[in-house]
Amino acid sequence: MISSFLVDHDGDILREMSIKEHPPQSHSSQHTIDSSQIHVPVLLADTLRLLAPKPGESYIDFTAGYGGHAAEVLARTGEYASSVLVDRDSNAIKFLQQRFADAAVSFSHMSFADAAEQLARQGRTFDIILADLGVSSPQLDQSERGFSFLHNGPLDMRMDDRQQHSAADVVNTYSEQQLIDIITQYGEEPHARARSIAHAIVQQRPFYETEPLAEAIAKALGGRRGNKRHPATRTFQALRIEVNQELQQVDRLLRCLPMLLRPGGRVGIISFHSLEDRRVKQFFAEDAKNGLESQFTVLTKKPIDGATYDVHQPRSRSAKLRVAAKQ
Ligand SMILES: C[S@@+](CC[C@H](N)C(=O)[O-])C[C@H]1O[C@@H](n2cnc3c(N)ncnc32)[C@H](O)[C@@H]1O
Repeated sequence: MISSFLVDHDGDILREMSIKEHPPQSHSSQHTIDSSQIHVPVLLADTLRLLAPKPGESYIDFTAGYGGHAAEVLARTGEYASSVLVDRDSNAIKFLQQRFADAAVSFSHMSFADAAEQLARQGRTFDIILADLGVSSPQLDQSERGFSFLHNGPLDMRMDDRQQHSAADVVNTYSEQQLIDIITQYGEEPHARARSIAHAIVQQRPFYETEPLAEAIAKALGGRRGNKRHPATRTFQALRIEVNQELQQVDRLLRCLPMLLRPGGRVGIISFHSLEDRRVKQFFAEDAKNGLESQFTVLTKKPIDGATYDVHQPRSRSAKLRVAAKQ
């Protein structure tokens, strides 16, 4: 039995789980799937209820990850040939190719912003669109990916290993002011704390590993206090967002939705922090201002939040699902 820590997107350990508890749902039993690559889909029941996949409908999953949502949607549509699974992570793509080896579905190893723009240019349209933003459990759990300060690893944080720019580049080359800016904007850290952190980083760099950086941040903020969230949590979030340009990615994807979604089609977006959720909310609110000309009907007047609707799934704790239909 392999043990793994289940960690939420804030980097907090939620519980230790044994892989045997959640065997991966292999699409094809002939293909071996590494059981350490576990990712339990969040808000699955509500996502399926609101996206309401029907036989014959085409599907694009912009963050297919380990195929948890995709397997369930595709099992209901039965429409593989016109469906696409996108992920920028090569491990995820390899896993998906194994899991869906017997299906005629397409895989796209690129960022969802690039994929969305390319497909929109090609005039491709879909009945169902899903984006389950953020990082997967395997990305957080594998220390060599450098996303977590709980397990020491290289300061990497790239979702796409073909990309050059890593967290080490940000930490070791950005000016103090640039660090303050990303820690306040993307980490939502108060300005005085961001200044202390950025100053400590610039004084003590270079950093190459997650643990020494997390320790330097904790020290700059006066150390850890009790069982509270680790003082480096927000800075690590900021670094991850900067390295992967996560907010720019969401903005570019949102702009493509009117082109990619067929009339009557449904789009679901699951976000894990307020910076993303605010963008999604504002996008649909702006559209609604167009009155009769608006393109979407929001199906979730309030977001479906994981803390209320998916209490048995610890990763859902900070998840928010918004769903809209194209008119
Ligand atoms: C939360 S996981 C998705 C899990 C998936 N829904 C499942 O059930 O297995 C997020 C996935 O999105 C991918 N991802 C995040 N941002 C991306 C982007 N901008 N472009 C493409 N993939 C992205 C990550 O690599 C990760 O595999």
